[in-house]
Amino acid sequence: MRILSGIQPSGTIHVGNYFGMMKPAMELSKKGEAYLFIADYHALTVLPEPEKLRERTRDVAVDFIACGLTEETVFFRQSDIHEIPEFTWILSCVTPMGLLERCHSYKDKLAHGMSPNHGLFAYPVLMASDILLYKSNIVPVGKDQKQHVEVARDIAQKFNNQYGEILVLPEPMIRNEVAIVPGTDGQKMSKSYNNTIELFGDEKEMRKKIMAIKTDSTPLESPKDPEKCPVFALFKLFASEPQIAAMAENYRKGGYGYGHAKKELFDVFWEYFRPFRTRREELLKDMGYVDSFLKKGAEKARETAVNTMKQVRESIGL
Ligand code: ADP
Ligand code: TRP
Repeated sequence: MRILSGIQPSGTIHVGNYFGMMKPAMELSKKGEAYLFIADYHALTVLPEPEKLRERTRDVAVDFIACGLTEETVFFRQSDIHEIPEFTWILSCVTPMGLLERCHSYKDKLAHGMSPNHGLFAYPVLMASDILLYKSNIVPVGKDQKQHVEVARDIAQKFNNQYGEILVLPEPMIRNEVAIVPGTDGQKMSKSYNNTIELFGDEKEMRKKIMAIKTDSTPLESPKDPEKCPVFALFKLFASEPQIAAMAENYRKGGYGYGHAKKELFDVFWEYFRPFRTRREELLKDMGYVDSFLKKGAEKARETAVNTMKQVRESIGL
């Protein structure tokens, strides 16, 4: 079984990325062969600054390894796989326009003020290329990416109908409890929405962000519904069962303000990532290791890519 997922280096890694994709992907990697990559071609749709792109790609690599990635995982930069753009074009030619026009993420990005360009629109085809090139079976992603995996599946089916059974149909894998991690404004946490809690942010700044999480105006003394509160939703990700039960009880009985909950949230958040923070400091002093990790991953991924492309080119008549 091959498991594959990617992350854009379009900003600093946040709690939503960690619980929505990184943690499930690392857990799944124990059950099969895991491919994880930094989607730098994708980031071109939103980050037209070369220095920043280079820097953030490097940061994502360091952060991912710091979070416990082992060398059993094939970890690489998307742009090191030169077969990707070629395959994307081939897939474009079997992709109906209607399939892309239905994608929520594109509409959502425009609604958030991004200017439409072809890359942004054709993004799901590039993503299909990432998934199908390595014949991936399972794609762990956050809920926002589910539709894109379904598009990849549809494209694979179109291709296979036209040219023969070459591509593997992928399945998205979404963990319900972390399907959408809320940000500091209660909406989906996202680098594009300025509402993130960064994994490796500065202590003071992270405390400030957590203390500023948007909550309703229920007075301190009144009972509150924990299930409606983003502070509680975030707390659940880091805390133990008894800690979660205790906070829920506090919410329900009243006399417990959101400020109290936020302080508790900061504490569990900060402890949770402490060992990763230490590992990250070490890695920053050993970038040679990070580079060789990515290089090894790219070599392995390319072996698979070259094999698939050989079959694809032959089947389509190139
Ligand atoms: P962002 O929305 O911050 O730009 P990406 O699109 O790069 O994040 O997402 C990388 C991975 O993290 C994807 O699998 C995505 O589904 C997951 N992810 C991002 N934000 C969240 C969130 N708030 N909750 C759950 N998963 C998320
Ligand atoms: N589009 C994904 C995101 O923004 C990142 C990504 C690119 C990806 N290619 C992928 C995820 C292939 C899973 C599989 O989050």
